[in-house]
Amino acid sequence: MTKSSANKSVNGEVCHHATNGLKPGKNGFVKNRYFDQKQQHKYRYPEEKDHHIDCNGGLYKRPFNESFEETPMLVAVFTYMGYGILTIFGYFRDFLREWKIEKCNIASERDEQKDFVPLYQDFENFYNRNVYLRIRDSFNRPVCSVPGAKMDLVERVSNDYNWTFEYTGKVLKDIINLGSYNYLGFAENTGRCSEAAAEVTKKYGVGVSSTRQEMGNLGMHEELEKLVAKFLGVESAMTFGMGFATNSMNIPALVGKGCLILSDELNHASLVLGARLSKSTIRVFKHNNMQSLEKLLRDAIVHGQPRTHRHWKKILILVEGIFSMEGSIVRLPEIVALKKKYKAYLYVDEAHSIGALGPNGRGVVDYFGLDPQDVDVMMGTFTKSFGSAGGYIAGKKELIDYLRTHSHSAVYATSMSPPVVEQIITSMKCIMGEDGTTYGIQQVRQLAENASYFRRRLQEMGFIIYGNNDSPRRSHDALHASETQCVWAGDAEEEHWGGGGWVPSNAHH
Ligand SMILES: Cc1ncc(COP(=O)(O)O)c(C=O)c1O
Repeated sequence: MTKSSANKSVNGEVCHHATNGLKPGKNGFVKNRYFDQKQQHKYRYPEEKDHHIDCNGGLYKRPFNESFEETPMLVAVFTYMGYGILTIFGYFRDFLREWKIEKCNIASERDEQKDFVPLYQDFENFYNRNVYLRIRDSFNRPVCSVPGAKMDLVERVSNDYNWTFEYTGKVLKDIINLGSYNYLGFAENTGRCSEAAAEVTKKYGVGVSSTRQEMGNLGMHEELEKLVAKFLGVESAMTFGMGFATNSMNIPALVGKGCLILSDELNHASLVLGARLSKSTIRVFKHNNMQSLEKLLRDAIVHGQPRTHRHWKKILILVEGIFSMEGSIVRLPEIVALKKKYKAYLYVDEAHSIGALGPNGRGVVDYFGLDPQDVDVMMGTFTKSFGSAGGYIAGKKELIDYLRTHSHSAVYATSMSPPVVEQIITSMKCIMGEDGTTYGIQQVRQLAENASYFRRRLQEMGFIIYGNNDSPRRSHDALHASETQCVWAGDAEEEHWGGGGWVPSNAHH
């Protein structure tokens, strides 16, 4: 690593890292090739790698190992060649279809519409029928069970080269699920969470049929909010029925015209939508790149608003805890230092990190050992680690009180369904150990171990791996993927938790 966010500390000191002779990538990370890693770290655990370690002025208490491995040239060339060949064949087959030499199975313009703007001739259509179609059988496979660690698929066959499928009536059992974000295994139809949710459904029903501000405020909504605040170590919290809407509806309540949003370039669509709806000015910084963020902050302070040069009403930094597509972990200690230096507000979306990261599963703040007060707006969702639905905003009491009256999703959206709330309460209490077991925290630790194992094995097998070594995202399905080596926990207390209770044996150590 040389000059990049990765090694330039906030106070201007440059940390001297093992550079490995590699060029830093566009976001400041070393783009290492698999072969480099393999030769140097063949039998080492990811924690032992030193070429990504970031000391950064002592802000980090633990190694920050993150890489965005570059695709080897040969792989890239062969991939593009493959696309090229498929495209040439595609045009040739389209030609045959036009001249009715080959049967055309897809929708096409009718003769009487031939003078209209073509509907079915854009590149997406071409790609679907000539490239995607060939491998379509691997996608959109019908699932016929709970998408837990393992799931059942309906078998289907195609007799016309994937144009259509027929069901054989056979069910493929116990397929390892690498597609869902059921990080801790709470999204199951057996075990304590689902039993508790079923009980609550009997008592309260499924729908509340009103908003929180009218007749939809149940005791269990308030219990959940107190629990979330306790879980995160903050004064107060508010919950919402949908994670996406938590971002897109609350950001406009926090900032507006005359405010500046500094948004990471890889932020989730819900953050982007919220930022756009707020009518604030949006400036985008390079992914997890502190130099890029600091430059924007400095410019914002020096120049103020365009034309008038008035100072910005508020500056809000928007980031994710674990970035949902890349699996990178936000450089929170550096961002906190920057936001304090430039007096900006910080909004962290913990959709993928809450429950899944940190020694106590309390997310990215817990992971870095920071003070929860350092993050002004903590946001997260219940759809991942808690196996439920909805989202939360947490922070100071005055912030939450303000949102209760000003957020559109608080005022106009129906409140959360009781079984959904109960699923979150039960799983969160389990992670906190308030159920009297250590099952939850064991699952958090197991996830970290599995993610690290899964990532290491994939690297050894020659796969290109993105993101942070400690991130369960990208390798989040390690919990399930290593199930071939799994044994049942055996403990009667843990067994009661049901389908999610798989823990790997020590076979891989
Ligand atoms: C970072 C991030 N924020 C928000 C959301 C939206 O959450 P939900 O799916 O719970 O609506 C997602 C969804 O995956 C996400 O990845």
